[in-house]
Amino acid sequence: MKIAIIGAGYVGLVSGACFAEFGVDVALVERDADRITALRQGRLPIYEPGLDKLVADNVREGRLSFHERMAPAIEGAEAVFLAVGTPSRRGDGHADLSHVFAAAEEVARTATHPLTLVTKSTVPVGTGRRIIELVRPIRPDIAVAANPEFLREGAAIGDFMRPDRVVIGTEPGERGERALATLRRLYRPLYLIETPIVATSIETAEVIKYAANSFLAMKITFINEIANFCERAGADVHDVARGIGLDGRIGRKFLHPGPGYGGSCFPKDTLAFLRTAEELGVPLRLVETTIAINEARKIEMAERVLAALNPAAGRRIAVLGLTFKPETDDMREAPALVIIPRLLAAGAEVVAYDPEGMGQARALLPAAVSYAETAMACLAGADCAVLLTEWNEFRALPPERLKSAMRGNLFFDFRNVYDPAAMRAAGFRYMSLGRP
Ligand SMILES: NC(=O)c1ccc[n+]([C@@H]2O[C@H](COP(=O)([O-])OP(=O)(O)OC[C@H]3O[C@@H](n4cnc5c(N)ncnc54)[C@H](O)[C@@H]3O)[C@@H](O)[C@H]2O)c1
Repeated sequence: MKIAIIGAGYVGLVSGACFAEFGVDVALVERDADRITALRQGRLPIYEPGLDKLVADNVREGRLSFHERMAPAIEGAEAVFLAVGTPSRRGDGHADLSHVFAAAEEVARTATHPLTLVTKSTVPVGTGRRIIELVRPIRPDIAVAANPEFLREGAAIGDFMRPDRVVIGTEPGERGERALATLRRLYRPLYLIETPIVATSIETAEVIKYAANSFLAMKITFINEIANFCERAGADVHDVARGIGLDGRIGRKFLHPGPGYGGSCFPKDTLAFLRTAEELGVPLRLVETTIAINEARKIEMAERVLAALNPAAGRRIAVLGLTFKPETDDMREAPALVIIPRLLAAGAEVVAYDPEGMGQARALLPAAVSYAETAMACLAGADCAVLLTEWNEFRALPPERLKSAMRGNLFFDFRNVYDPAAMRAAGFRYMSLGRP
């Protein structure tokens, strides 16, 4: 079986390499010349654990190839996946679908045989219908399907190879049956591990993706508010999370407090979902409130630091971790992008360290930020430390070592990585989230 994937970003590269690992012949199309050059030279344009080996193995086996041009890539492909970006449209928060429509039209104009055009990008309800209207006059034999992706950066390969479910949305009639049969065949290796296939209409598949991300964003926001509550009430949010999470109706995942969710998906997807709801005239008050609480939380985190330093001017703040979560280099919508500029604006000096994210961070953070080569170098001489991302390498640092590197004794642990008693014993004024 041969397929093509348009867009070699986090989703396109991971799904391409994983489908190739299933034994499928995968042609990846990428229009960014730097990304293509890197891939052809055996370098990955992104960081994702395990992906370098998976890509290299499958390139060597001849199952994975990279293309700048659409025609050779989609020739003979039974399915062509769209894995292009759908960022927030500047100004209004709707999903920007220009890459999706441009790629869909190019596939239709280039195709020389019937194929299934599958949207893996996250797109608002109604997009599949618009893709059908776009491609059908050009090539009536193209079937259109929606196959939203649920992988998490940092654990993407495991998520793709062992997903909780696969959602396949198809159009009614013969084209839909053909598309569903093709996609079931493609995902056959997952039947062996009894992965549920949720077959729906295209519209339903599109809604599932936004509803899933909004629910998860809400769950994180819920525990963040409970953490605030615990701080005042003298309770421990981790025990509360365990106590509620063991209830199967609630579930234990996504109940870890933090400085607000970020990343390439939750912020833009919750906002786009809300915009679609407004267009449809349906209130989505929980989603709307989640977005507002999360925006305020990032600012509130900066304010906690500034209030403790008061005055912050001239003080040196060491920021440990910049990416929105560990095991990725992705800086999109990371809380650091809101928190650090506020620290700088108050006159603080900011030095930062992140194991993978500093390349992307340099382009997104103010030039006044300086960067350290290691966590310990970052902490050297700092008045205050702020931990924003729970990289494993930070967990291993003994509190006494952290303390002796610093000039001051103020430590904000916004991921609750350290043991409060041990940090206090080392001499820190230690502030974490939701713990007495
Ligand atoms: N990143 C995630 O964790 C994740 C998870 C689930 C779903 N998604 C969704 O998947 C989609 C892709 O996300 P991503 O993070 O991989 O984005 P990305 O920005 O990392 O990658 C998109 C790639 O597509 C390329 N591209 C755009 N238009 C093209 C065209 N016409 N021809 C060829 N290449 C083209 C871009 O150059 C870029 O390299 C988005 O809709 C996103 O919401 C992302």
